[in-house]
Amino acid sequence: MDHFLYRDGELWAEDVRVADIAAKVGTPFYAYSTATLLRHFQLFDEALNWADHLVCFAVKSLSNQAVLTTLARAGAGMDVVSGGEYARAIAAGVPGDKIVFSGVGKTRDEMRAALTGGIRQFNVESEPELLVLSDVATQLGVIAPIAIRVNPDVDAKTHAKIATGKSENKFGIPIARARDVYAMAADLPGLNPLAIDVHIGSQLTDLEPFRLAYQKVAELTEQLRADGLDIQRLDLGGGLGIPYERSNSAPPLPIEYGQMIQETVGHLGCEIEIEPGRLIAGNSGILVTDTIYVKSGEGRDFLIVDAAMNDLIRPAMYEAHHDIIPVKEPVAGAEQTAYDIVGPICETGDTFAKARNMPPIKAGELVAFRSAGAYGAVMASEYNSRPLIPEVLVDGDQFAVIRARPTYEDMISRDTIPSWLQDT
Ligand code: LLP
Repeated sequence: MDHFLYRDGELWAEDVRVADIAAKVGTPFYAYSTATLLRHFQLFDEALNWADHLVCFAVKSLSNQAVLTTLARAGAGMDVVSGGEYARAIAAGVPGDKIVFSGVGKTRDEMRAALTGGIRQFNVESEPELLVLSDVATQLGVIAPIAIRVNPDVDAKTHAKIATGKSENKFGIPIARARDVYAMAADLPGLNPLAIDVHIGSQLTDLEPFRLAYQKVAELTEQLRADGLDIQRLDLGGGLGIPYERSNSAPPLPIEYGQMIQETVGHLGCEIEIEPGRLIAGNSGILVTDTIYVKSGEGRDFLIVDAAMNDLIRPAMYEAHHDIIPVKEPVAGAEQTAYDIVGPICETGDTFAKARNMPPIKAGELVAFRSAGAYGAVMASEYNSRPLIPEVLVDGDQFAVIRARPTYEDMISRDTIPSWLQDT
């Protein structure tokens, strides 16, 4: 459920007319709903109420400072995967002991920054990383709390580009080798292996792959404890999917996910961490775009909109579906037209949807892409020298631009002309 609903014949974001935001900031833009962000965070928080737990928002999914600050104030921890994300979490007021650092390629600089600024745990993904982290921690005279990310070799049954839990993926350490690698970590001077981490992929719409992975983690916890390690926490990753296509999908709810976690690992008495991104951010955001032209083609009509693949790359990159709705509420039973909905970029891949049934749309009418809050703005680029589009945060009847649209001058002035090209 979200807070983008039709009222009085048009689309609202909470208590703000979407058309009013468009009039103020221009199109295209992202708009996020505070109430939806908080509700989704709280659903996870409540689903884990049976245990000590921390919901660490996956910053990669939506990293605007205003969003991070909103979630930090609600008590969220953060899952970060780069020095930049770590700096964002700290700047949003998240205490270091609520930040987990994931990722296969952490550098010494990133490790140093997190060890100095405060960190809950590093999720370590390889033996070489263990050695380097122990070395960096020892040099700083501290002990790094760690989980080792294990790869449980389960099929997450999601898009190949976002599945991470099969043995052929680059992530984690094969679970069969985990005991040896934990023993190695326990012997290194700068590390305290106190947790196990697993993350098998993103946009999972079935609990079974999670269940298989968590059962393996439960088994491993008991083995490691028998080996003498004090495993206190389990980081169970993110990945719970959302209904991108509302008419025909109903992924499991956070409460069902929480129950399954309790069934699989609840008996171990561990503190539980999860790292959801998409389920918190996805349906909290829409992308609003204006229709530039309606063009009749061979056997199809094109809606040419002013958003493009550089603003929202998910359809081009993952063949992802986003529901697309008119901002003006269609009359009940209106005839439907099949449109190809495309952006202005000079690539055929700049197609958001093919033969999508919509009520008739005219040039100058606004449409909204739903479920665009996660992996939308954060994956945007300025391809075709299209300035990054603004982000707007709505809270009740107020809204604010939380990242402004750069002017052409802003965009151009980021480049530097070397001395030999400057006029003397
Ligand atoms: N934890 C780790 C270690 C991850 O790699 C990810 C996502 C998450 C948590 C959060 O997963 P979520 O709850 O958001 O599914 N750009 C792609 C998604 C990439 C996901 C990468 N890892 C997309 O637009 O679908």
